[in-house]
Amino acid sequence: MYLLTFVLCLSLATLVKYASGSDWCYTGCENSPSKWKDISGSFCGDKRQSPLNIVTSHVVTDSKLNNFTFVNFSSEHAIKSIVNTGHTVKCKLKDNEVEVSGGGLNGTYSTIQFHFHWGDTEHHPGSEHTIDDHRYPMEMHIVSLKKGLAVEQAIEKSDGIAVLGFFINATEDRNMSEAWSTLTSYLTNVTAEGSEVNINHSISINGLIGDVDLTKFYRYMGSLTTPMCNEAVAWTVFQEPINIHKDLVQLFPTKAGFTNAYRPPQGLNGRQVSASPATPLPPSPPWCYDDHCDYGPSHWHLLPLSHCGGERQSPINIEKEKAKVDSNLGDFTFTKFDDKHAIKYITNTGHAVKCVLKEDLVEVSGGGLGHVYSVIQFHFHWGSTSDDSKGSEHSVDSKRYPMEMHIVTKRKDLTLDEAVKTPNGLAVLGFFMESKVTPKSSSGSSGHQTTTSTSSSASNKEYWKKLTDYLPAIQNISSKAEVSAEVSIDDLLGDVSRKSYYRYNGSLTTPKCNEAVVWTVFKESVEVDHNLMMMFPTHAGYSNVFRPTQRLHTRTVFTTSASSSSGSMLPVLLLAYLCATLM
Ligand SMILES: *[C@@H]1O[C@H](CO)[C@@H](O)[C@H](O)[C@H]1NC(C)=O
Ligand SMILES: *[C@@H]1O[C@H](CO)[C@@H](O)[C@H](O)[C@H]1NC(C)=O
Ligand SMILES: *[C@@H]1O[C@H](CO)[C@@H](O)[C@H](O)[C@H]1NC(C)=O
Ligand SMILES: *[C@@H]1O[C@H](CO)[C@@H](O)[C@H](O)[C@H]1NC(C)=O
Ligand SMILES: *[C@@H]1O[C@H](CO)[C@@H](O)[C@H](O)[C@H]1NC(C)=O
Ligand SMILES: *[C@@H]1O[C@H](CO)[C@@H](O)[C@H](O)[C@H]1NC(C)=O
Ligand SMILES: *[C@@H]1O[C@H](CO)[C@@H](O)[C@H](O)[C@H]1NC(C)=O
Ligand SMILES: [Zn+2]
Ligand SMILES: [Zn+2]
Repeated sequence: MYLLTFVLCLSLATLVKYASGSDWCYTGCENSPSKWKDISGSFCGDKRQSPLNIVTSHVVTDSKLNNFTFVNFSSEHAIKSIVNTGHTVKCKLKDNEVEVSGGGLNGTYSTIQFHFHWGDTEHHPGSEHTIDDHRYPMEMHIVSLKKGLAVEQAIEKSDGIAVLGFFINATEDRNMSEAWSTLTSYLTNVTAEGSEVNINHSISINGLIGDVDLTKFYRYMGSLTTPMCNEAVAWTVFQEPINIHKDLVQLFPTKAGFTNAYRPPQGLNGRQVSASPATPLPPSPPWCYDDHCDYGPSHWHLLPLSHCGGERQSPINIEKEKAKVDSNLGDFTFTKFDDKHAIKYITNTGHAVKCVLKEDLVEVSGGGLGHVYSVIQFHFHWGSTSDDSKGSEHSVDSKRYPMEMHIVTKRKDLTLDEAVKTPNGLAVLGFFMESKVTPKSSSGSSGHQTTTSTSSSASNKEYWKKLTDYLPAIQNISSKAEVSAEVSIDDLLGDVSRKSYYRYNGSLTTPKCNEAVVWTVFKESVEVDHNLMMMFPTHAGYSNVFRPTQRLHTRTVFTTSASSSSGSMLPVLLLAYLCATLM
């Protein structure tokens, strides 16, 4: 009878343990990682899970990820005990002594414990996060709760927990910090699951972190990496590993009695991993306009973080007949377009010639834009040195122009980082450029010219000469020249009509082709002397710097009302009519 009760109690104990949800494992039981999602109440199958494989070419720098502030990380008495949980070896910290803040975290976090993830005794690596598919031998997680919250509260908030992840690399070098020899010596005291001993030696967290550069880290929003996988973690993964001797790494699987204590990488599901400014990231591969590199225009969509394959890309061919009149497309207000000292410098980017303006000086608003936009720069697209070359990006009824000028502006209330992520964050004003005087050698195309209205005055030639005079000085790619000549944007545009234009939603026309641009394409072209236009391909050293037109998909192109677009035509018609009636 007593025996029966005893057996019953024993099996009840196992049952309770089973039902409590602690019955999961990394390998060798039914509830291995692929089944964690089926554990009742677990979030392990959700969309914001950890760990991740961090693909460095897809990481973007975030200037908000500033330096961390660590409190008592150098305290030698903050580590209370070490325990074998059966899933990891964990070091518990004294309550309310250790803190972390900064590093782009939202608030102060109280550090409660750190623990480890490892591989096996055959030197199979066992970090949870991987970097470009590289798995480090181990990973250390320093776990902190948002200050003032209990664990049960912290797991309910999307950033209730902050985990600092450190990779641990196995080296041959025995010259490592004392802290690791001391800490790992305790592993012999916690070989049994559930065993816990106090730490009597002086070990600090900083002693374990060693000389890792704490300004270099990745950040993303994720989850706990063990059931219930609560999606409550602001993750920090430091780029540099902690180097410790390989024999110490081996002590973890050997002494703890279990191996491969790590969860496999989870799906990104549209999340963005960012990096602190100090973190080195691989350079984006070069792109080009022709086939002399791996990423010509037809392959731009394959570039990392590229939007070039999207459905609101630029440039486009504008079909006059299909453009819808929009009465909201009124006059623009141009501020400081007449400032003759607004251009800071001119540079050869290797893809274009760009004039960078002084910050927060020149502005544009009105024109149906709905916001005030600050002009950042203007640049040019061109064809070749042949007389009838066409180098514009946009076309109108399939007609292309010799060159196109883009005045790039960003919403005044946004940073550039924000603007490129916002659907109307940027506004670009596009002007076609052509010469009224057709060179003799291409007189065959002069019939074509009459269909275009060009700004009548040629008085802007002297200004274009002032600007193009700088081109010989920037023949080298990346070179730049300060612009001291007195020339304003108004000077360059001359008396081209700024009242008739097309409007559509599009993108940047160079990688990463962000779909953040409200486009204005003016109907009249700016007149520029043919020989001055030829200086662009000649001095920049490259030709045909324009993207082919992109599909319109479901977009609509809008136009200013017909009366304003043919404003100069109306009196002529009226006159003709009057003449006709008079006769
Ligand atoms: C951040 O820390 C690094 C190194 O510790 C230091 O060089 C840098 O000046 C710090 N930056 C700020 C903004 O405090
Ligand atoms: C740091 O630790 C000491 C004890 O070692 C403690 O007195 C102090 O309050 C801690 N600092 C903070 C900010 O918690
Ligand atoms: C920062 O944390 C506070 C308090 O938890 C919260 O109310 C706020 O929404 C958080 N801000 C962001 C940007 O997450
Ligand atoms: C990791 O350790 C190996 C072996 O000592 C070494 O070659 C490698 O450079 C280390 N990696 C890093 C990132 O420190
Ligand atoms: C840990 O184990 C060692 C060797 O077995 C023993 O000498 C030491 O007293 C133990 N330490 C603790 C804190 O139990
Ligand atoms: C261009 O680069 C070459 C060599 O790199 C240099 O000798 C020359 O002075 C540079 N020219 C200009 C205009 O900067
Ligand atoms: C551009 O898209 C926005 C919505 O993102 C829409 O409100 C606006 O009308 C569109 N403008 C044009 C010119 O299509
Ligand atoms: Zn962990
Ligand atoms: Zn452009």
